[in-house]
Amino acid sequence: MNNVHVCDHPLVQHKISLLRDKNTGSKEFRELVSEISMFICYEATRDLPLKEVKIETPLALANAKIISGRKVAFVPIMRAGLGMVDGALALVPAAKVGHVGIYRDKSNSNSAAEYYCKLPFDIANREVIILDLMLATGVSAIKTVDIVKNAGAKNVKFMCVLTCPEGIKALQTAHPDVEIITGAIDDGLNEDLYIVPGIGDGGDRLFGTK
Ligand code: URA
Repeated sequence: MNNVHVCDHPLVQHKISLLRDKNTGSKEFRELVSEISMFICYEATRDLPLKEVKIETPLALANAKIISGRKVAFVPIMRAGLGMVDGALALVPAAKVGHVGIYRDKSNSNSAAEYYCKLPFDIANREVIILDLMLATGVSAIKTVDIVKNAGAKNVKFMCVLTCPEGIKALQTAHPDVEIITGAIDDGLNEDLYIVPGIGDGGDRLFGTK
C-alpha cells in the first residue's frame, strides 16, 4: 500500500497485543497507548529536515546536526487521540498541540460534524501530525485532514495505533498526499464499524467509560 508505514518493531507488536487483551484495564491501556505512540511518532518524524551546526564538545569542535525549518504540530482527534498526546510530546516537547472534535452520526456512517476546533495560529508553517487511536471508516480522519488543510497546513501525516484496509483506502482516496503511520493493519470492519480483531472501543477503554 502506498504511503502507509507499519511500525513492525517487536516492542510495538508486543504492546499492541497487550492492548488487544480484553482483560487489560484502563490504567495499563493508557500507559501502553502512550508508549506505542512514542514509537509511532519516532517513525512519523523520521524525515524531519536537519541542518548542520558547529558544537563545541568537551574535546573538539564538532559538525553536528539539529532539526531545522518546519516545526511540528500534533492534532489529536477527540476523544481517543488524546491518549496519544503525551507519548508524542515526549519525543517532540516543543511541538504545539491543536484539538479537533468530530461528532459521528451513528445512523449515517458517512456523516461527521466538527464540534470543536482549536489549532495553532501558525499551523501553515508546521509539519502537522494528526493523532487518532484508530483509523476505522476514515470519516473522522478525512474531516480532520480537511480542517487542517483549510487552515493552511501543507504537510500532513496521520498516525494511529491500529487501522484496517477500509480506513486506509478511504483516507488515501480523499487525501493521497497524507502518509499513514500505524502500528498494525487488522482484517477489516464489522457491521458496527469496529475494527476486527481490534481493541474494542478505544475511547471507552482509555477513559474507563464502560
Ligand atoms: N473506534 C473504536 O473505538 N474502535 C474501533 O474498532 C473502531 C473505531
